[in-house]
Amino acid sequence: MRPPALVFSVFCGLLLYVPAPVGANDFSSFLSANASLAVVVDYEYMAMHRQNILAHFEKILSDIIRENMKNGGINVRYFTWNAVKLKKDFLAAITIMDCESTWNFYKNTQITSILLIAITDSDCPRLPLNRALMIPMVAQGDEFSQILLDAKVQGIFKWKSVAVFVDQSILEENPMLVKSILHESTINHIPPLSVILYKIDETLRGQQKRVALRQALAQFAPTKHELKRQQFLVISKFHEDIIEIAETLSMFHVNNQWMFFVSEQLHADFDASTVTINLDEGANIAFALNETVSDCVDTLNCTISEVSMAVVTSLSRMILEEQSIYGEISDEEWESIRFTKHEKQDEMLQYMKEYLKANSKCASCAKWRFETAITWGKSQENRKFRMAPTRDTKNRNFEFINIGYWSPLLGFVCHELAFPHIDQHFRNITMDIVTVHNPPWQILTKDSRGAIVEHTGIVMEILKELSRALNFSYYLHEARSPDYEYSLAQSTNESDELMGSMTYRIPYRVVELVQGSGYFMAAVAATIDEPHKKRFNYTQPISIQKYTFILRQPDEVSRIYLFTAPFTLETWGCLAGILLVTAPMLYIVNRLVPLQELQIRGLSTVKNCFWYIYGALLQQGGMYLPRADSGRLVVGFWWLVVIVLVTTYCGNLVAFLTFPKFQPGIDYLNQLFDHKEIKQYGLRNGTFFEKYVHSTTRHDFKRFMERALVYNSSQSENIAAVKQGERINIDWRINLQLIVQQHFEQDKECRFALGKEDFVSEQIGLIVPSSSAYLHLINQHIDRLFRMGFIDRWHDTNLPSMDKCNGKHMQRQIANHKVNMDDMQGCFMVLLFGIIAALLVSCIEFWYYRFLVLNKGQSIAFAN
Ligand SMILES: *[C@@H]1O[C@H](CO)[C@@H](O)[C@H](O)[C@H]1NC(C)=O
Ligand SMILES: *[C@@H]1O[C@H](CO)[C@@H](O)[C@H](O)[C@H]1NC(C)=O
Ligand SMILES: *[C@@H]1O[C@H](CO)[C@@H](O)[C@H](O)[C@H]1NC(C)=O
Ligand SMILES: *[C@@H]1O[C@H](CO)[C@@H](O)[C@H](O)[C@H]1NC(C)=O
Ligand SMILES: *[C@@H]1O[C@H](CO)[C@@H](O)[C@H](O)[C@H]1NC(C)=O
Ligand SMILES: *[C@@H]1O[C@H](CO)[C@@H](O)[C@H](O)[C@H]1NC(C)=O
Ligand SMILES: *[C@@H]1O[C@H](CO)[C@@H](O)[C@H](O)[C@H]1NC(C)=O
Repeated sequence: MRPPALVFSVFCGLLLYVPAPVGANDFSSFLSANASLAVVVDYEYMAMHRQNILAHFEKILSDIIRENMKNGGINVRYFTWNAVKLKKDFLAAITIMDCESTWNFYKNTQITSILLIAITDSDCPRLPLNRALMIPMVAQGDEFSQILLDAKVQGIFKWKSVAVFVDQSILEENPMLVKSILHESTINHIPPLSVILYKIDETLRGQQKRVALRQALAQFAPTKHELKRQQFLVISKFHEDIIEIAETLSMFHVNNQWMFFVSEQLHADFDASTVTINLDEGANIAFALNETVSDCVDTLNCTISEVSMAVVTSLSRMILEEQSIYGEISDEEWESIRFTKHEKQDEMLQYMKEYLKANSKCASCAKWRFETAITWGKSQENRKFRMAPTRDTKNRNFEFINIGYWSPLLGFVCHELAFPHIDQHFRNITMDIVTVHNPPWQILTKDSRGAIVEHTGIVMEILKELSRALNFSYYLHEARSPDYEYSLAQSTNESDELMGSMTYRIPYRVVELVQGSGYFMAAVAATIDEPHKKRFNYTQPISIQKYTFILRQPDEVSRIYLFTAPFTLETWGCLAGILLVTAPMLYIVNRLVPLQELQIRGLSTVKNCFWYIYGALLQQGGMYLPRADSGRLVVGFWWLVVIVLVTTYCGNLVAFLTFPKFQPGIDYLNQLFDHKEIKQYGLRNGTFFEKYVHSTTRHDFKRFMERALVYNSSQSENIAAVKQGERINIDWRINLQLIVQQHFEQDKECRFALGKEDFVSEQIGLIVPSSSAYLHLINQHIDRLFRMGFIDRWHDTNLPSMDKCNGKHMQRQIANHKVNMDDMQGCFMVLLFGIIAALLVSCIEFWYYRFLVLNKGQSIAFAN
C-alpha cells in the first residue's frame, strides 16, 4: 500500500468510528455495484433551444466514459421529463433545464439525497454550494446580474442597504440587473436590501456630467458630526470621475464601503493605485476587474463535455481509492469504514470542483477578479514593520490585495473578505503610540533599562480596550523631551513634588510627535481647550474634572454652654417667667382656702412657695402637699409641665452631646472674602482654572486670581498654613482629596475641609493626529465604553476614593463619642456658680441677721 492511501484509510477510520446512524450506509460501494448517474434534459428546454441536446449529451458522455473510465463502470439513465422522481440508488444527476425547474428538481432530489449538477440559464440563484454544483450559461458580457446574484447568495457583501450607480446602457443591456440586486430568499438566508438606484446619463458630456454626478453623490455626503455606514456599488465606465468627486465630498471614510466594477477596458490597463491617488487612509474600496479571456469556447456542447469529464474523472478517482483500501483490510473493517452516500457525494463534489478549477475552458471564459485596498493604519503601522513607501502620493501606503475571483462555474472563490477593515478593523497590525507618565491617567512601569514593562491607568485601560475592539496591537513610545529631562534632574527631591496630576499642559514633545502623524494616537490625558486652534484633534472627553478649594475644617462650637443649648433664650425666659407666676399662684390659692386646717404652713409665704415650685421643677418635690383640691390642682398641673420640660431638655441634651456643632465655614468661594482670617490664597501652577479666569465673568474668581500665589512645589503649596486656617488652596478636587487622605493616614484626624462647590469643569480627552481618519471610530468606541460603564469603573479604581473624612468614618466617631471635659465643663461651672451663689446668700443672711435682727433686738431692748 502506498503511504498516502494508508494515511487516507486511517483518516477515514477516525472519521467513521463516530457512530453513524444505522442504515445510513445502505448505499452499496463502488466495488459491488456500478455508480448510477441520471441525466435529465428537459424536453421543453430542448424545444426552446431547437437542439437535440439529449442526443448530443448521450454521445459526448458515452465517449468520455469509454475513454476515461478505466476502473469500474457507470450506469447512466437518461430522462427528458423534468418532474421525474429519481430513486434513492442514484448517486448524482446532471440536469439541463431552466432556472425554475432546476430549483424544483433540487427540492425533490433532496428527499432522496441525490447530488445535483445543474446546467441552467443565466441569472439563476445558485443552489446551496455544499449540496450541488450549478453552472449558469452566462453569455459573454451579460455576467453582471449573475455576479450580483452570486455575491448575495455567497454573502460577499453583507449589506442592508446600497446606493447603486449604474450606466444607463449597462442597465438596458442587463434587464435582470435590478432584480438580482433586489433578490431575497429564505432558503439561502438572503435578507431584503434597500436600494437607491442612480442611472448615469451617458449622453451628458464633460462638465455637465460631473455636475450631475456631484448632485447625485452629494446626497450621501457625510455631515460634520455623523459618519453613517453607507454602501456604494458602482457599475460604470465613469468610475474615475466618481472616485474623484466622492473624494472631494469626503465620502471615503471608515464607515463607507465602495465596490467598483471596472468594465470596458482591458484589466491590464487598470491600475488601482492610480485611480485612488487622492484617497486618504481609512477608505474601504474594492474593484472588480474583467479578466475574461476572449479565446474560449462558449457553447453548451463544451460545457456538457467539461461537466461529464469532471464527473467521470472524480468517480474514477473515488473507485480507485476504494479499491486500494479494500485490498488492505478485512470485510468487517471495510463495512464499518466505507463512505456513506452523503460522504461519497461530498467527496465527489470536492473532486469535481478541483477538476473544474484546474481545467475549465468553456463557461469560465467569463472571469472577474476582485481586489480590495488594505489601507487602515498603514502609515501609522510600527516603523519596524513598515516598508518604505513605493509611491509619493496620498495613497502611497495603500496595498491592493487579490481577494479571489468569480466565474460562472464556481461562483465566487474568495480567500479574503471583500471589505476586510469593516469586520477586522486594523487587522492586527502594530501601531505606534505616544505616551507620557502621568498618574493616575498613564502609569508606566519601567525596568532597569528604561523599557516600559507595564502600563496601567485610566487612559491605558481605554487604550487596551480600543486595541481589542479595533484589532490592533501597539508599541508605546514614551515622549521624553530634553527640557522634560532637565526639569526631572532639577527636582530630584521627591518630597518636594506636588501630589496629584494635571492635564492642562501637554508636553511639547507629544504634540511634536503627533503632528508628524507617524503615530496612531497619543495615549495622553489632555485638557480639551480650544480644539479648533490646535494642530491636532482631541477625542471626545473621557473624563471631566472639577476644581474646588481646601481649607481648615471649621472648629467646633464651644461646649461651655452646652447645658443651655437645648432651649432657646426665649424658652429659658418663659421658664423663669412661669416659675415667678406659679409661685404666687400657689400662695394665693393656699391663702384663700376657707378652712384654717386646710392651709399648709409650709406654703404660707411667697418665698416658701417659690422654693417649693423650684424644687418641683428639679423633680425633688416638696415635703408637703396642699390639702385643698384647689392647691392640689395647681401643683398637679405644675408637675405635668415639669414632665414635659424635663423630657425635652434631657432628650435634646443627648442630641447636643453626640452631634457636635461647627462654626460656620466656607462652602462656596464667594463666602471667602468675608473671612479676614484667611490671608493667603494659593493656586496650583499649570491649571486650566488660571486660563479660564481670563474669560469668566465671575467676580469671585477674578478677586481670587488677583491675590493668588501660584505654587509649584509642595513647599510653596504650604499645606501647614492651610492646616492653621490662614490659607486656602484651589486645585482639582481629586488632588485635594489625595492631600486629605494622606494627612488622615499620618495624623488619624480630619483637619481639612473641601469646598461644597465644584467649579470649572475641565474636559479631558485623548489626542489623535490632525484630521485622523479614525477619530470618529475612536470616539464611537469611547462612547461604547462609557455606555457599558467601563470608564466609570476605571475612574473608581484609579482615582482616590471619596474623602475619607466623610461619611462612614465620621459616623463611627459619633457613635463612639465619650463625654469629656469639653462637654461637662458647663455643668461644673453651674455647680460652681451655685456654690458661689450659696456662699453669697449665706453672707447676706449673716449680715441681715447681724444688722437687722440684732438692731431690732437692740431697739426693742432700748424701748424696754
Ligand atoms: C454538439 O456535439 C454534437 C455531438 O458531438 C454535434 O453533433 C453537434 O453538432 C454539436 N453542436 C454544436 C452546436 O457544436
Ligand atoms: C458496470 O459497468 C461496466 C462497464 O460500464 C459494465 O460492463 C457492467 O455490466 C456494469 N455492471 C452492472 C452490474 O451494471
Ligand atoms: C469582459 O471582457 C470581455 C473580453 O474582453 C468582454 O467580451 C466582455 O464584454 C467584458 N464584460 C463586460 C461586462 O464588459
Ligand atoms: C484581527 O485581524 C486578524 C488579521 O487580519 C484576523 O485574522 C482576525 O480575525 C481579526 N480579529 C477580529 C476579532 O476581527
Ligand atoms: C496579533 O499580533 C500580535 C503581535 O504582532 C500577535 O502576537 C498575535 O498573535 C496576533 N493575533 C492574531 C489574531 O493574529
Ligand atoms: C528635600 O526637601 C525637604 C523640604 O524642602 C528638605 O528638608 C530636604 O532636606 C530635601 N532633601 C534633599 C535630599 O534635598
Ligand atoms: C480637527 O482639527 C482641525 C484643526 O487642526 C479642525 O479644523 C477640525 O475641525 C478638527 N476635527 C474635528 C472632528 O474636531
